[in-house]
Amino acid sequence: GVGPAPDRFGRWLRDLRISVTDRCNFRCRYCMPREVFGADHEFLDRAELLTFEEITRLVRVFARLGVRKVRLTGGEPLLRRQIEHLVGMVAGVDGIEDVALTTNGSLLAAKAAALRDAGLSRVTVSLDSLDPDRFARISDTAVPLSRVLAGIEAAQRAGLAPVKINAVVKRGMNDADDVLELADFGRRRGLVVRFIEYMDVGTTNGWRMTDVVPAREIVDRVHARWPVEPVDPHYSGEVAERYRYRDGGGEFGVIASVTQPFCRTCTRARLSAQGELFTCLFASRGHDLRALLRGGADDARLEEGVRALWRRRTDRYSELRTSETGDLPKVEMSYIGG
Ligand code: GTP
Ligand code: 5AD
Ligand code: SF4
Ligand code: SF4
Repeated sequence: GVGPAPDRFGRWLRDLRISVTDRCNFRCRYCMPREVFGADHEFLDRAELLTFEEITRLVRVFARLGVRKVRLTGGEPLLRRQIEHLVGMVAGVDGIEDVALTTNGSLLAAKAAALRDAGLSRVTVSLDSLDPDRFARISDTAVPLSRVLAGIEAAQRAGLAPVKINAVVKRGMNDADDVLELADFGRRRGLVVRFIEYMDVGTTNGWRMTDVVPAREIVDRVHARWPVEPVDPHYSGEVAERYRYRDGGGEFGVIASVTQPFCRTCTRARLSAQGELFTCLFASRGHDLRALLRGGADDARLEEGVRALWRRRTDRYSELRTSETGDLPKVEMSYIGG
């Protein structure tokens, strides 16, 4: 048959997250530690990356299978040359209602207006601390915090609203002053800050359960300073739990993927920069769609292939996580982009 089909647990395919490069100009300790991603690390060759035409063709296939939301990620997606062209191509695909981008913000000031003009709906900036020294230590980059802040401002000025901020919270890294500072920043600037529980993605970050700061603790801490109340989800399967400041200061969210897994409503597929399809963030292997593309498969064949994969899907890693599963082989975050 053709058209959308649910997976083995009744979940429909709705979102496609596309990594456009495995490179990044940051070396966040929890994602691309410099010991592993050093000067001699071999990144993908240009010829290995899906071209914009190949990506767009796949997006058309996925749209026929029910995808409505596309998120471009990396590595750092703004390192991919002329990424705004891809944004325009993807935004033009029938059925795609929302094109978003996750970035570290360092190159955003230069690109915000072009991205908006191309049809980008929204942008999410990753930022874990507002303290310049802690920012530098966490991100392990020479890019100053001020450039990220300028990127956020440019995105807001370009009307890429609401700009969201993703902050990964890790015990001992940024769980002291940073949480309230980031929350306050969001309130003052009209940004939606989301605090993310640190996850055992990939195999290089040395994750331990004791590194996780439970979302409950974060909500309690923010609530003690500025009282909040829960907000109903925007849509079924929303990843973030949302809270509204009672004094009208906007809202913030938590993404509790460790303490309150949301696999039951997971409608996300991920495409790596070299064209492998992953049906879970924690999958050990992907399915090579590039081989199909470059082997001359027609759209009907691609559609049937992806549909068959999705129908077999039983992923629910976050519901099965234990302190031992952390050691299983898993794809790196920089490779499929969160
Ligand atoms: P919007 O609702 O479209 O704004 O996006 P989102 O809530 O999906 O947020 P975003 O794409 O920025 O994801 C935020 C973070 O949530 C990611 O960086 C991951 O850390 C985590 N996350 C997103 N999707 C998944 C998922 O499927 N599984 C797990 N375990 N974590 C996820
Ligand atoms: N746990 C949770 N979030 C992570 N990210 C990267 N690594 C991890 C991890 N181990 C986040 C980044 C960014 C998004 C792409 O994923 O900070 O916001
Ligand atoms: Fe780069 Fe984002 Fe990974 Fe940091 S978390 S190293 S900014 S891809
Ligand atoms: Fe989806 Fe896998 Fe994340 Fe569960 S762990 S929400 S199945 S991506």
